[in-house]
Formats: sequence, structure tokens, C-alpha cells
Amino acid sequence: MGKNMQLSLLYVVEFTMVAFTLLLVVDGRRMIETPIVRLDIQTNQVTMSNGIVNVTLSIPYGLVMSISYGGVNNLLATQNVEKNRGYWDIFWNRTTSKRARKKFLGNSFEVIMDTENQAEISFKSTWNASQSDELPLNSDLRFVMLRDTPGFYTYAIVERLEGWPLVYIENLRVVFKLQQDMFHYMAISDERKRIMPMPVDRETGKVLDYKEAVLLTNPTNPDLKGEVDDKYFYATDNKDDRVHGWVSSTNPPVGFWMIIPNDEFRTGGPYKQDLTSHVGPTVLSIFVSRHFAGDDLVIKFQQGERWKKVIGPVFLYLNSNSSAMDNPTILWDDAKRRMNQEVANWPYDFPVSEEYIKSSQRGIIRGQLLVNDSTTTLVPASNG
Ligand SMILES: *[C@@H]1O[C@H](CO)[C@@H](O)[C@H](O)[C@H]1NC(C)=O
Ligand SMILES: *[C@@H]1O[C@H](CO)[C@@H](O)[C@H](O)[C@H]1NC(C)=O
Ligand SMILES: *[C@@H]1O[C@H](CO)[C@@H](O)[C@H](O)[C@H]1NC(C)=O
Ligand SMILES: *[C@@H]1O[C@H](CO)[C@@H](O)[C@H](O)[C@H]1NC(C)=O
Ligand SMILES: *[C@@H]1O[C@H](CO)[C@@H](O)[C@H](O)[C@H]1NC(C)=O
Repeated sequence: MGKNMQLSLLYVVEFTMVAFTLLLVVDGRRMIETPIVRLDIQTNQVTMSNGIVNVTLSIPYGLVMSISYGGVNNLLATQNVEKNRGYWDIFWNRTTSKRARKKFLGNSFEVIMDTENQAEISFKSTWNASQSDELPLNSDLRFVMLRDTPGFYTYAIVERLEGWPLVYIENLRVVFKLQQDMFHYMAISDERKRIMPMPVDRETGKVLDYKEAVLLTNPTNPDLKGEVDDKYFYATDNKDDRVHGWVSSTNPPVGFWMIIPNDEFRTGGPYKQDLTSHVGPTVLSIFVSRHFAGDDLVIKFQQGERWKKVIGPVFLYLNSNSSAMDNPTILWDDAKRRMNQEVANWPYDFPVSEEYIKSSQRGIIRGQLLVNDSTTTLVPASNG
């Protein structure tokens, strides 16, 4: 065969393959049309759904009351009152009063985006200067659902205006409490994944030197007898806390995962430790806290100081696989894969708030950090 002949044969094969692939894609699109994102707005609640997961929030508060997925009507703790299942909260004080813990409760609800591919809703609360004993902070809690995405995102925009009173913020976090009869297996890292005790096991156990550490003397699961449970066992450096959560013992098993794609919105830097998931079953993402550090990491706003910050988005990822009945790490491994995908997608391009700085609006710094001490060391630096 001559060279030209070979070449043209190659072209034919290549052309045929391209045409074939196009056909498959076109056909594939028509055949695997995924359900669209929908908002169902009632007087006191709104449900976001995408055919995979339904999330119901209260209006105007923005409390997560229900998450339906994988054949389970509500993954959240239905034995708790509706305001104690999924929420953002804050611990704050002023020098003159005691520390107060407060849930962020919106007083107005707004649909920010409602298309086939994305829904974004907002729950805003605005400080009222004549109620001086209230937290001097405005908040805008956002919840986002994307098409074809098993889970939802949440982020918050918090703000103080000029002239507002002094406030100390000790702790700011988002919390999810799951069905305790369903979720028994927890995974924090490859080294820390295990079957966990029940909340009642802490009540029947013996409190040790501090109230968080409890010796399990009569646990529901006898295998755990003699162990100590303490939520601080599961604390992790910010830099390593990219995904953690629980796997249910339902059929099929369901994984409920907190994915934190980046640290830019957490105080304390990469080596700051904080809580992750613990007996409850509770799933946290902590953005500000004094844990393991003390007062230095409390955010202290003086009288008059202004501030604005976007916190998140974090991703609540749900997965399910019947093979996980025998091996829950299947869902942990899948959650890690999804975490890597979310990390690679950071900074996200979907949040609608213009306060969230998109990829195209960000710069990159590369170079070297010169630490000029007696030995003069050159350290390569990159913000990735
Ligand atoms: C989820 O929402 C869709 C659309 O609103 C609804 O048809 C479906 O019944 C809901 N599923 C569950 C389990 O609540
Ligand atoms: C409020 O918090 C600050 C900073 O952590 C602390 O110094 C102060 O003692 C606290 N005040 C009260 C009354 O708890
Ligand atoms: C602010 O608080 C005052 C005192 O409680 C109340 O009378 C007023 O209606 C509030 N204003 C708004 C905008 O909520
Ligand atoms: C379920 O897990 C098995 C074993 O890891 C895997 O082969 C299979 O692809 C998974 N199924 C889904 C739907 O992810
Ligand atoms: C390091 O600091 C010393 C003293 O200030 C200065 O003389 C020297 O030039 C500096 N070295 C570099 C590499 O900048």
C-alpha cells in the first residue's frame, strides 16, 4: 500500500469515528435527559429538587428541615424540632454580656435564580439598631442546587456596617443533625473511619475528667464497651478537613458528606484544628472558632468597625450504593473522589452573589518568599 493510500484510509477511519461519536453524543443527550431543577414554594417552606435530592427549608428562616434522598424521606433528625436539624449558627458576646449562641434566622426570603440548571435561594436578616441587644451583623444565607448534582451547596454573606457596636465572634459554623437510628458509621480520614456509639451511650456512660470525654460502660453496641468517646478525637487540621461524614445502615446505604473545597473562608490557617463529625450523628463545618487556640482567634470588632465576608460555599454531597452494605468504605472512597472534583472546581463559577469572587476575577501570585534571618533561606511560594 502506498503512503497516500494509507493516509486516506486513516482519514476515513478517523472521520467515521468522529461521526460515530457525534451520533452517540447527540443520541445520548436525547436519551439521558436529566430532570430539571425545581423550586416548590409554599407559604412556610420551599423545596428545591433535581430528581436526585429534595431539600426543604423554612420560610423566612432558612432552616433545613428535610433532605430526601435514596428512598429515605428525611435523612435529618426527625425526632428533633424542625429548627434543630440543619442550620447556620454563631457564638458571640460583648464585654458587658454573657456569650450568646444564636441560629442565623432569615427575616426575608428571596429567589435569586430559578432556571432548569440552577436554583439559588436567599434568607436575609438585617440588624435593627433599635434592638441593641441583638447581634450587630447582617446575614444572607444562600442555598444552591445544580442539575444532575447529588446534593446542594450553602454559603453565607455576613456584614457589619460602619458605626455598628462592638462585638466578639467566637464561633461560626453550619450544622447538620442526622437520623440517629440510621447512621452508625462515620469517616473523617482514611485512618479514622469506624462504627460509632449512639447518643444514649454517652448518657449511660461515665463522664471522665471533662464533659466531652465519656467512658462507654453500657453501649447499645456491646463491641464498643470500655471505649472512650470524645468529639475532639475527630478534630482535624483545616488543610486536611476536605470531606467527612456518615454512612447509613439503610438498604441501600446512603452517605451524607460535608465537602469543604477550600480554606480561604476559615480563620486560623491550614494548621488550625477543628471539629468535624461526631456522635449525634452531627456533621459540622466550622468557619470561626477558638478551639485549640483560645481568645486570640476570636474575631474582635471594635465599636464602629465594618466588615464583610463570604463564607463557603460548602457542598453537602449524598451518595448511595447497595454494595456498601458489606463495605461502607465504598461510599467514603466515592466521597473522596467527589471531594477532589470539588477542589479542582474551586473557585466555583455558579454562586450568583457578586460578593463571591469568581475565578475570572481573581489574580494569581507566584514567586519566592524571602525569609531574611541569619541563615537567609529562600522558600518557593505559590498560591496555586
Ligand atoms: C421531591 O420533589 C419532587 C418535585 O417537587 C416531588 O415530585 C417528589 O415527590 C419529591 N420526593 C420526595 C421523596 O419528597
Ligand atoms: C467575650 O469574649 C472575649 C473574647 O473571647 C473575652 O475576653 C470576654 O471575657 C468574653 N466576655 C464574656 C462576658 O464572656
Ligand atoms: C426595630 O425595632 C423596633 C423596636 O423593637 C421596632 O419598633 C421596629 O419596628 C423595628 N424595625 C424594623 C425595620 O424591624
Ligand atoms: C458500587 O460499588 C461497586 C464496588 O466498589 C462498584 O463496582 C460500582 O460501580 C458502584 N456502583 C455505583 C452506582 O457507583
Ligand atoms: C537581609 O537583611 C540584611 C540586614 O537588613 C541585609 O543587609 C541583606 O541585604 C538582606 N538580604 C537580602 C537577600 O535581602
